[in-house]
Amino acid sequence: MTKIKKICCIGAGYVGGPTMSVIAKKCPEIQVTVVDLNEARIAAWNDEDVNNIPIYEPGLSDVVAEARGRNLFFSTDVEKAIDEADMVFISVNTPTKTYGAGKGQAADLKWIELCARQIAQVAKSDKIIVEKSTLPVRTAEALKDILNNTGNGVKFQILSNPEFLAEGTAMEDLDAPDRVLIGGDSTPEGQEAVQALVDVYANWVPRERILTTNVWSSELSKLTANAFLAQRVSSINSLSELCERTEADITEVARAIGTDSRIGPKFLKASVGFGGSCFQKDILNLVYIARSYGLQEVADYWEQVIIMNDHQKRRFANKIIQTSYNTVNGKKITFLGWAFKKDTNDTRESAAIYVADHLLNEQAQVAVYDPKVGENQVYGDLNYLRTRDAEENKAGTTVYTDPYEACKGAHAIAVLTEWDEFKDYDWQRIYDNMLKPANVFDGRNLLDSKKLRAIGFNVKTIGSSL
Ligand code: UDX
Ligand code: UDX
Repeated sequence: MTKIKKICCIGAGYVGGPTMSVIAKKCPEIQVTVVDLNEARIAAWNDEDVNNIPIYEPGLSDVVAEARGRNLFFSTDVEKAIDEADMVFISVNTPTKTYGAGKGQAADLKWIELCARQIAQVAKSDKIIVEKSTLPVRTAEALKDILNNTGNGVKFQILSNPEFLAEGTAMEDLDAPDRVLIGGDSTPEGQEAVQALVDVYANWVPRERILTTNVWSSELSKLTANAFLAQRVSSINSLSELCERTEADITEVARAIGTDSRIGPKFLKASVGFGGSCFQKDILNLVYIARSYGLQEVADYWEQVIIMNDHQKRRFANKIIQTSYNTVNGKKITFLGWAFKKDTNDTRESAAIYVADHLLNEQAQVAVYDPKVGENQVYGDLNYLRTRDAEENKAGTTVYTDPYEACKGAHAIAVLTEWDEFKDYDWQRIYDNMLKPANVFDGRNLLDSKKLRAIGFNVKTIGSSL
């Protein structure tokens, strides 16, 4: 039986960092080394003050403080860590391709391939390779091909072990997962590798929650779990527009739908649109795969989830413009929130970026305050879109470190992220310091709109005609 003593994880990001920290905490007898090409990121993980680690996730810095230097290490020496490990997790990013065939839909697997080639080159002993990144179904085939053609006699087993953690609740999700999914080959060697990884998780996850499947089912389950979740958000968001026209209220409708136990209450919160590193990327990827198998209707069906999401973001921006007498030119529009959801500093695919981009096209002056996102990130996100040059983005956008300053003199305030602290602001003070009519666009249905209306605000929520 293989017993894992040393783990290496390639990729110290939002998935690799928290996941390995929890494995190190729960399995003190296993040495866990997280490596990354990005030296600045590793330096931040090693910062003496654990509050400076590069990822904000409630509870994470405590675990790092406990395990770092004991059995948890962060390093840029990728080769040494691979060489020493019995098990190598690949947790690098797989962004949507921005060029060539499959541009805008297919996952770019160049980093995954790079990892495989590096492992093939460095490995001197047999290893279990674990796909942690979300990957298109049948990626393990390519990994196998690269790893098995090294000619140096080293044997590899490839497992798929997708991560289901959600950002903002990553530590709870890792601590008590609904399930852990492990896919492996049905050969005896494959099953032995699966068992080795099951034994790692069994240190804290009840055995009945560890599901084992073949590699392909595991790869496809992760992609489609995200597609199903995103589809629910797009479904409820599609109904939010209907509610706004019919005097129905989306919160009431969502409650009525969600109390049907067959449907359930989760992922029925209407919003300005879903964001995050996974939903859009994974659905686009699913669409691309379906199309490449010639399954046109399947592809169109899932693509509609994305179309609906883009529509919801645009609709929100347009509502701000229409309410502002059809022009936001030169007007200060304040964004509360930039992250794709609360309790994270991650901004990938955040709805805020697209809403801001739309308003900047209309020559608005966008003011941004987010408790965990700074100036460089905001400009970086806008520049990444390449809609206009960096100078123009800078001229049109101001990032604040104080919410009251951000709201001062604003024509409108838009809530883009559901940070709890926004609810507790002194809204009377904000009202006194902004232009009238004082418009608030609550893209998360977060604020107490009754209270705000009593102060004098004109409040527009998602999915209500009020
Ligand atoms: C990523 C993917 O987006 C997701 O699909 C997958 O499920 C897990 O990995 P995340 O951890 O959030 O998610 O990405 P990110 O924070 O970008 O971290 C990836 C890290 O890998 C980066 O720090 C990057 O520098 C590193 N990397 C990338 C390497 O160390 N080597 C490489 O060859 C490529
Ligand atoms: C998601 C999956 O939940 C997780 O299992 C997977 O491993 C990675 O992708 P994450 O992207 O961290 O996790 O966030 P999630 O909580 O799923 O939210 C995604 C987006 O949908 C956010 O922008 C969120 O604000 C939005 N959302 C979610 C809604 O608008 N309404 C809802 O009811 C739920």
